[in-house]
Amino acid sequence: MTMEQIKWGELPFGYFKTDYNVRCYYRDGKWGELEISSSEYINIHIAATCLHYGQEAFEGMKAFMGKDGKVRVFRWEENARRMQRSADGIEMAQPPLELFREALIKAIRLNRRFIPPYGTGAALYLRPLLIGTGAQVGVKPAKEYMLMIFVGPVGPYFKEGFNPVKVQLVHDFDRAAPLGTGHIKVGGNYAASLKPGERAHKEGYSSVLFLDAKEKKYIDEAGPANFFGIKGNVYATPDSHTILPSITNMSLRQLAQDIGLKVELRQVAVEELEGFDEVGACGTAAVISPIGEIIDRQSGKRYLFCKDGKAGPISTKLYNLLRGIQNGDEPDPYGWTMTVE
Ligand code: PLP
Ligand code: COI
Repeated sequence: MTMEQIKWGELPFGYFKTDYNVRCYYRDGKWGELEISSSEYINIHIAATCLHYGQEAFEGMKAFMGKDGKVRVFRWEENARRMQRSADGIEMAQPPLELFREALIKAIRLNRRFIPPYGTGAALYLRPLLIGTGAQVGVKPAKEYMLMIFVGPVGPYFKEGFNPVKVQLVHDFDRAAPLGTGHIKVGGNYAASLKPGERAHKEGYSSVLFLDAKEKKYIDEAGPANFFGIKGNVYATPDSHTILPSITNMSLRQLAQDIGLKVELRQVAVEELEGFDEVGACGTAAVISPIGEIIDRQSGKRYLFCKDGKAGPISTKLYNLLRGIQNGDEPDPYGWTMTVE
């Protein structure tokens, strides 16, 4: 495909081949030099721990082309720290922040021509991946690791974009155990979400809404995104050990406070769904996806929002503020964006 043939405004959220990716190896107790590769493949040992015991963590970030021609990456340091926590959580070597930053900048610069133009709504998705490459047959952490970053232009995660999605509340699956790995971004959590996720898709829903794994009373998160609800001037979002602490949600909590909302990070009981004026899913890929309908798969109970088919006013305001900062259209008072020359 030539660059002229790319329909930036119609891109799905998916894999897109670009020119290069960057890689770095951890061996003999230290990280080596960054390497550039044009291959989409990696060559690893048949006993690598990522293949057998799930020593794998990833991240997701976006870079945006501004009206001013500057490329901005949103809150990379938060993602780098989260990758360190993920690595620590499953006994992998932690990539230093500076290495993460350098790899990120290199991956963006080398694939600059794939950054979607300003105004298309698309972004360059940045996908860091950390895997155990050392061989083990006993259940033990590897001694060798590989960090890589690949990138690709993407459109909205849910085909609805900023239009309301339907989600399915499930009782018969958990993505993570109460004292397990739900709070870090490791592949096993996503493997556990595939079965209920595919079932939800077949039944006509964009995503699953998981409950807390212990009591099954509280909302946890919405597939690959956090959940929030708005009632009056309150922005409420679940606090739970089994939820991935979303950097988008953290940012929205700040923006919500800035526009005068009261932010509540606490358990959100299922019964509260009835009282919310607006509900949504938020994350790097999902940005804010307004939720128009939640069906409880067990009881058949339906909760309807966005009755006029559109996102609510507060979700819309937060969405515009967040996207404005990411694009460089709004002031960035907290220094959330890093410009890549
Ligand atoms: N929850 C899960 C399970 C996710 O995979 C993601 C995506 O990274 C999020 C929430 C949103 O997190 P963030 O806003 O940091 O992208
Ligand atoms: C993200 O929001 O960046 C994600 O990683 C979500 C999903 C693609 C796993």
